[in-house]
Amino acid sequence: MRNPIIVALDVPDVDDAVRLARDVAPHVGAFKVGKELFVGAGPDFVRRLRGTGAAVFLDLKFHDIPNTVAKAVAAATRLDVQMLTVHAGGGSAMLRAAEAAAVETAASMGRPAPLVLGVTVLTSLDDAALAEVGVRNGTADQVELLARLAAGAGLRGLVCSPLELGRLRAILPASVQLVTPGIRTGAEKADDQKRTLSPREAMAAGATWLVVGRPIYAAEDPAGAARRILESIA
Ligand code: C5P
Repeated sequence: MRNPIIVALDVPDVDDAVRLARDVAPHVGAFKVGKELFVGAGPDFVRRLRGTGAAVFLDLKFHDIPNTVAKAVAAATRLDVQMLTVHAGGGSAMLRAAEAAAVETAASMGRPAPLVLGVTVLTSLDDAALAEVGVRNGTADQVELLARLAAGAGLRGLVCSPLELGRLRAILPASVQLVTPGIRTGAEKADDQKRTLSPREAMAAGATWLVVGRPIYAAEDPAGAARRILESIA
């Protein structure tokens, strides 16, 4: 079975990140590289991570004109990442351009296309914050609207909160992969994640991939924590 655990490498130091990746690699499916690590350590770090054989999720949430996003997606595909993110709010032309760039660039290199994931409404935004930028829909309706837009534009995956899994599974084709952060096991200290599910609950609700940060990297024994999460969903 494919291992659905993606560890968020939310640590600022490159050597710490590589060490963490090596330690937990036997128990996880991929590593998420976000803005801090990428802006600080760049493509060389991604190459180093890929060099260990690990699958990489490059979470830079592209949002720009279609031509610019297509070029960024092509560059990420040449870096040989397996997943990347774009904002669904960039519109259908941008989403189609992103997917086409991933598929065409990968084909020209004889590789499988990376999974381009649409991000709908950031969980930091509530209804009032959406109204502030002129969005009259509430968050739930806006998530649904953007999810349908992304799937309609050909995206094969979306990022969503654990509490959106059920609704999105009900309205999207079964082939759309859902990637879910906000995973907590109960063993870790309380932190800023408010709406969470356990790994097992999230998988049962329809997640394809689980993004797990602190429950693994902040654990006393990250490899053990990753192994226990994997066992909990086996
Ligand atoms: O440490 P934790 O498990 O909360 O890490 C979750 C990861 O998923 C972090 O990299 C965080 O930025 C990301 N994320 C999230 N909630 C979202 C979107 C992304 O926690 N809605």
